[in-house]
Amino acid sequence: MCGIVGYIGRQEAYPIVLEGLRRLEYRGYDSAGVSIMGDVAHTYKSKGDVQHLVAHVGSQPVQGSLGIGHTRWATHGGPSDVNAHPHTSMNGKVVLVHNGIIENFADLRGRLEKRGYSFHSETDTEVLANLIEYIYIYGKLDLPTAVRLALTKVVGAYGICVYSPEEPTTMVAARLGSPLVVGVGDGEYYVASDATPISGYTQNVVMLNEGEIAILTRDSLALKNIKNVDLPVEIKTIDWDVEYTDLGDFEHYMLKEIYEQPRSVADTLRGRVHAATHEITIGGLFSVLPRLRDAKRIIIVACGTSWHAGLVGEYLLEGLARIPVEVEYASEFRYRNPIISSEDIVLAISQSGETADTLAALKLAKSQGALTLGICNVVGSSISRETVAGVYTHAGPEIGVASTKAFTAQVTVLTLMAIKLGQMRGALDSEQYAELVDELLAIPEKIAKILTKNEKIKEIARKCYKAKNALYLGRGVFFPVALEGALKLKEISYIHAEGYPAAEMKHGPIALIDENMPVVVIAGKDRSYEKVVSNIQEVLARKGRVFAIVTEGETEINEMAESCVEIPAAHAAVEALLGVIPLQLLSYHVAVMLGCNVDRPRNLAKSVTVE
Ligand code: F6R
Repeated sequence: MCGIVGYIGRQEAYPIVLEGLRRLEYRGYDSAGVSIMGDVAHTYKSKGDVQHLVAHVGSQPVQGSLGIGHTRWATHGGPSDVNAHPHTSMNGKVVLVHNGIIENFADLRGRLEKRGYSFHSETDTEVLANLIEYIYIYGKLDLPTAVRLALTKVVGAYGICVYSPEEPTTMVAARLGSPLVVGVGDGEYYVASDATPISGYTQNVVMLNEGEIAILTRDSLALKNIKNVDLPVEIKTIDWDVEYTDLGDFEHYMLKEIYEQPRSVADTLRGRVHAATHEITIGGLFSVLPRLRDAKRIIIVACGTSWHAGLVGEYLLEGLARIPVEVEYASEFRYRNPIISSEDIVLAISQSGETADTLAALKLAKSQGALTLGICNVVGSSISRETVAGVYTHAGPEIGVASTKAFTAQVTVLTLMAIKLGQMRGALDSEQYAELVDELLAIPEKIAKILTKNEKIKEIARKCYKAKNALYLGRGVFFPVALEGALKLKEISYIHAEGYPAAEMKHGPIALIDENMPVVVIAGKDRSYEKVVSNIQEVLARKGRVFAIVTEGETEINEMAESCVEIPAAHAAVEALLGVIPLQLLSYHVAVMLGCNVDRPRNLAKSVTVE
């Protein structure tokens, strides 16, 4: 999704803005641009990646200590040089980058055209640039006031960063529905759509709230709301280090993040489980524990991989804590007039904390009186602020577009919650409780052990990377893991893949099976084991090729399957955290073998801030 960078200070802005754009590449984009205010405004933009932009800028001088930049993911108008941001207003008085969608752009454009404005691009952003300019010129106002008044006319969502060559020492940033962070340096400020471009420069940030406008010079930061009321500036310190944004020895962020999981799961657990006493403390939920203990129903809302984590959560919260759980696609939930009451608890799961559908589902639930909770990775994100209470996953920034460590972190939090609530509700006795806590604490080491099987998984990838389709089967918690495995494969390798509960295969998907169809089976050693063995036989009888994830020491499936990867034995409640790891690696290797862009798969965005 689109990314914004801005800088105002004493250093050369161009290298800082450019580096910021590089760090934002993970979000997915199709064009990029920069505008630097020197003696005049220098704006360069082009379709394609940041490298392409650099070539376009060439050796031309781009000196100046104020600059803005943007990576665009097309919404209004296809990817092109002219549609790329920054957009300059007709008379050159306003230069603007924008994330989000101006819903009433057609109406505003019509009105501006009547007042003599013409447009070069198909974008809603150019409309906003011209609207600000129109108010600026004809109102004879300063830039911050013109921006503020223009925003009162806008319907939609935006994160913007704007400057005027007429006022070269001022930059304005504003947010409604699309996140913006201001980094506070020494005699300098940074603006970005997430903390990634800022990390390494400063740890002091101001997270803009909905409807806030930041007015920046190199020596001052003032906050206002849209009604021109001055607001207090609250500076927070973030502890995400640059280490996360460096690739180190890894070829791709996705692989790096897969390998980070022993640490990221441990980070999620850190400070929340006391190994000796087994006590679980989830600080973020402290205020709502009585409500959770007495819960009649929890509705989980999420999208994509986070929705899969929610499905694992359903098994766990129902199985261990005996709380009825419904898991909903956020996008469907909000549009189907759901029945929600003040007795309900609605739990949003989101890595980014910015997914528009999840945020909207949450707001709907809140408006109908439900208690809203969140599980988010990004500290200070919109969802984390919209909820009454919640848990941060502490997985560190996830750069690869395909979610890996965020999924295991979300499942870890859900497991912690299920065990804690199981104890509080008397659904688990003390022995079961202690056993589960120990099982969870052992997960980081077991993930590390699975990662040592990378070469074996690569061999399997070599056997099936030419397939056109793939089927993933699992039961119990391995059903959502099968869904997640299939999603990972299709999003980064573009191979069509589907996940099914293993027993459902005979109700339709079995028709697809032939000698070209790889079937990936994730088999636990629980009570459904024999049934899964039968499902494998059904596949083999139709000449399907079976690749299986099995528990260490398993023999039956090992003899039947073309190849197996063993995962350490674990309690069924924590097995999802293990079963998913070989599937992440499998899709990674397949995508690499196919020459796909693993970290930035086509058409995908990291943070989906449009509905
Ligand atoms: C898949 C993936 C997406 C996200 C989905 C929700 O690898 O990353 O399916 O899980 O867009 O994003 P968040 O969790 O940020 O709400």
